[in-house]
Amino acid sequence: MEDFEASLDDNSLADPLPAHPFDIVRRWREEAQGLGLNNPDAMVVSTIGEDGAPRSRTVLCRGFDYERGSLNFYTNRQSEKGRNLSARPEISACFYFDKVARQILVVGSVELTDEADSDAYWAGRPRLSQIAAWASAQSEPVASRAALLDKLRAAAEQFGGMEGGQPVPRPAHWGGYRIVIRRLELWVGAAGRAHDRARWTRQSPDAPWEVMRLQP
Ligand SMILES: Cc1cc2nc3c(=O)[nH]c(=O)nc-3n(C[C@H](O)[C@H](O)[C@H](O)COP(=O)(O)O)c2cc1C
Repeated sequence: MEDFEASLDDNSLADPLPAHPFDIVRRWREEAQGLGLNNPDAMVVSTIGEDGAPRSRTVLCRGFDYERGSLNFYTNRQSEKGRNLSARPEISACFYFDKVARQILVVGSVELTDEADSDAYWAGRPRLSQIAAWASAQSEPVASRAALLDKLRAAAEQFGGMEGGQPVPRPAHWGGYRIVIRRLELWVGAAGRAHDRARWTRQSPDAPWEVMRLQP
């Protein structure tokens, strides 16, 4: 029983819970970088489709503002997720770190990041990713794999080649979204399914957080 109690302490959240969650989120994300994961910044984001049904897919979290409680990701704004977000700028995001039995759940509204932010992120992308962004009308059908590769080759040619040539500008429809968090839940797995959960919510970005512990 003592071992059981000790194992719970190892992995539980502080009691009482902190007034806001972002010191923990920062530490968990930093520790995730050291776990040997291929994509420690990956998160599954869900949007609301035209038919009212949810749509989920993985994207990379690129930039987390732990002061404001917001995070960014980058995509084609004409993609299905982009269309969903322009109609209903609401999103949820889920990070799951299997190795350490931790989950971070986020709900918030989205806003477009500004041109300078999107340009800065674009500039740091590998050339091939930049070319692929021009070649792919993301989420649209394509006749065949060969047709897609033809589009990639044509885009590379347009900019002077895959390896080098002229700089590849950012397409106007490609850029960032900022999720302004209003609800965040942390989950940690523990022995005997005595998992620990806590949820922080706020009415607006300037309002204080309310926090509660949840049954697992
Ligand atoms: C690990 C991983 C990371 C990804 N990161 C991104 C990303 O940062 N931005 C993006 O547009 N798509 C990313 N994708 C592809 C998306 O999951 C998705 O296929 C694409 O954005 C189209 O989604 P949509 O049709 O729902 O808009 C990633 C996929 C995986 C598996």
